[in-house]
Amino acid sequence: MDLQESRQRIAQALNDLTAFNATPGQGVTRFPFTEEARQASRYLKKLMEDLGLQVRLDNSGAVIGRLEGQVPETIMTGSHLDSVQNGGAYDGIAGVVTSIEALRLLLQREKRPHYSYEVIATNDEEGSRFSSGLFTGKVLLGQLSVEDIKGYKDAAGISVYEAMQAYGLQPEEIDQHVREDIRAFLEVHIEQGPILEMEQKSIGIVDAIVGMKRALITINGRADHSGTMPMQLRKDAMEVAAKVIAKIGDRARQYPPAVATVGNLSVEPNIVNIVPSRVKFCIDFRTTDAEIIKKMYQELLLDLDSCCQKYAMSYMAEETLWVEPVQLRPQLQEYIEESCRERGFSHMHLISGAGHDAQVFGAQLPAAMIFVPSIGGRSHCPEERTDPLTLAMAAQVACDTLVKLDTRQKL
Ligand code: GLV
Ligand code: MN
Ligand code: MN
Repeated sequence: MDLQESRQRIAQALNDLTAFNATPGQGVTRFPFTEEARQASRYLKKLMEDLGLQVRLDNSGAVIGRLEGQVPETIMTGSHLDSVQNGGAYDGIAGVVTSIEALRLLLQREKRPHYSYEVIATNDEEGSRFSSGLFTGKVLLGQLSVEDIKGYKDAAGISVYEAMQAYGLQPEEIDQHVREDIRAFLEVHIEQGPILEMEQKSIGIVDAIVGMKRALITINGRADHSGTMPMQLRKDAMEVAAKVIAKIGDRARQYPPAVATVGNLSVEPNIVNIVPSRVKFCIDFRTTDAEIIKKMYQELLLDLDSCCQKYAMSYMAEETLWVEPVQLRPQLQEYIEESCRERGFSHMHLISGAGHDAQVFGAQLPAAMIFVPSIGGRSHCPEERTDPLTLAMAAQVACDTLVKLDTRQKL
């Protein structure tokens, strides 16, 4: 019965939250520091307030609901509220809503726990707008400078710094208010791949999360008439970009399970009869071995060097995200596993190929992740679906894990 009530509440909240979306009918687009993000934040704030939590918007744009315990040391749970462009209604936000439900269940068992608890809806985890990402985690752990956030820009040239100002936040304070009270971090998230469904398991326990490097590459050529400038004299930024990009996928295939993606590209002036003067594209490299990521990136830079040299052109490579692969905390995995066994929920361990807030926290403090199956393994697309019943099961497992974290010292 409890499970059905949780399922109903989670499904209702997720359905309501799809309204805060810049692309209705074409999947969910909820970029950071936008009106849609503000509306979703208000909705989440209300859900948290209804539980009796003290709720605030922090300087990263995250919504945080706090339950004061007997000591200020904090156990944090949650996920992100932003989405990719034309994504689904579950990535990130399903974990937030499920974590709120987990705190509801916790409060039914314990009104004044030993540790303080926070449920968090983080901001700009995806990095879709500024090609960076994992923003709130990095802010909470003091990993971003004013200079960094002035450098990360969206397609319209607006920096994170400017977007924060327009949203009513204080970008000059980005490296202040570092959180030193977080004892552990637990994230619930959809799997975004097909493994749990294929293995017919309800709950995934994440062992490790891949590392990621993102960078903005700018190739500078020269605009000329496309009909009159002979091939040996032109500086075609698109030709160089195409040659370099063509090798990226095959390079990653040499280092399985590494993956490499060029997901966006812009051309200037983008006119049929003008030789392109500038091409910009973003790379996203991932795998579980940091050295392989660095190697793929070095090889890309060497390729850019030699290609640009051949045509007497220049390029710039600006890193927008670097995050190490992270091993999640075995003791926390054990608590999750024990909770699954106690509830009789089928479960398995797996690796996450997607990036998550938990990897920023996991690099510095005990962190864990609970996955739930994605139907057909689809994600980052409008077809993304997860059965709310498995989210309700994850809320129970998360609650049990939070209780174990409150009553047992071992981390
Ligand atoms: C976020 O979902 C990412 O892995 O890019
Ligand atoms: Mn996500
Ligand atoms: Mn995502």
